[in-house]
Amino acid sequence: MKFRALMIQENAGSIPAFVREIKERNLEDLPKGEVLIKVLYSSLNYKDALSASGNKGITKVYPHTPGIDAAGIVELSTHSDFISGDEVIVTGYDLGMNTAGGYGEYIRVPAQWVVHKPNGLSLQDSMVLGTAGITAAIGLFKMRSLGFSPNQGTVVVTGSTGGVGSMAVALLSKLGYAVKAVSGKENAAEYLHFLGAKEIAPRSFVDDSSGKALIKPKWAGAFDTVGGNVLATLLKGCGLEGVVVSTGLVQSPELKTTVFPFILNGVSLLGVGSAETPHETKEQLWQLLAGEWNISDKFQAISKVVSLEELSDIYIDKILRGEIMGRVVVKHAHQS
Ligand SMILES: NC(=O)c1ccc[n+]([C@@H]2O[C@H](COP(=O)([O-])OP(=O)(O)OC[C@H]3O[C@@H](n4cnc5c(N)ncnc54)[C@H](OP(=O)(O)O)[C@@H]3O)[C@@H](O)[C@H]2O)c1
Repeated sequence: MKFRALMIQENAGSIPAFVREIKERNLEDLPKGEVLIKVLYSSLNYKDALSASGNKGITKVYPHTPGIDAAGIVELSTHSDFISGDEVIVTGYDLGMNTAGGYGEYIRVPAQWVVHKPNGLSLQDSMVLGTAGITAAIGLFKMRSLGFSPNQGTVVVTGSTGGVGSMAVALLSKLGYAVKAVSGKENAAEYLHFLGAKEIAPRSFVDDSSGKALIKPKWAGAFDTVGGNVLATLLKGCGLEGVVVSTGLVQSPELKTTVFPFILNGVSLLGVGSAETPHETKEQLWQLLAGEWNISDKFQAISKVVSLEELSDIYIDKILRGEIMGRVVVKHAHQS
């Protein structure tokens, strides 16, 4: 059977060195795996855009189909946990990195990567959340498991109009935390207040250049998607027994800090690695996102649904330029 997929090809020696094209593929082109899934929706993450532009830290071998998120219907399964017709979600692991991903109308993956869609979310809703929602949920879960509570004070979220940042603003606000959303976008205030942010600040608010090891505490906790000097600032300006969650590196993967935030202020730095988060934890988080932590009332504002063509022609470049607000969901057309 034939299906459509966005393919990234390497043209060594030409400019551009990597080109995007929507091509017809055969099911036999997919890797071996226990579960064949007809993908109805995928989403756009920063990592997808890196894979789609030839970043060999993400994808080693081209031609390749990106898409680290996929939601759809089981077509065939050789594993007893799934039968044809099941509605399922796959986020992370190797999907879309070196395994053909959700920008194809079909994927074939190990059963260990597949989660049953929880009641309370549609397949499209699950891709509004996608890796961004799971990443925010893991960060929040870890903060709460340290006992970090809303009455400790303000939580700063950086990259707050991006996918992970928007989810963090919405989830933290839903659970009663006072969020101060940091954004580089001048027109973001209405959007961020709608997600639940109490205050908005420019990027300079978390970009300290004093050279000091500690600065006057201005927040009780932080959720960072940016890395570099922003993460260093979040640590040195965090209050006593505060918690800082690190999820991303859109500014830089570097972190220059001293131990003083940790040994004088008792600050904890928590890491999130959503791709390799154990299957059971992901299942638990999907249940929370479909129930107690459900933020679907915000979905219309957060998401934009696009075709594979629009993804390729417009949105991959937009996310690389940091221009997206919220989440881009990809809807497959499926002729057959
Ligand atoms: N750890 C994990 O498991 C995990 C999972 C998913 C994503 N991530 C990482 O998290 C980060 C965000 O991913 P995403 O998919 O949410 O990306 P995204 O939608 O592009 O969001 C990133 C946001 O960061 C801000 N930004 C962009 N460039 C910046 C810069 N140079 N300095 C400061 N802020 C900047 C922008 O928001 P404003 O304009 O509002 O400032 C942008 O919208 C990426 O590094 C990604 O690799 C990690």
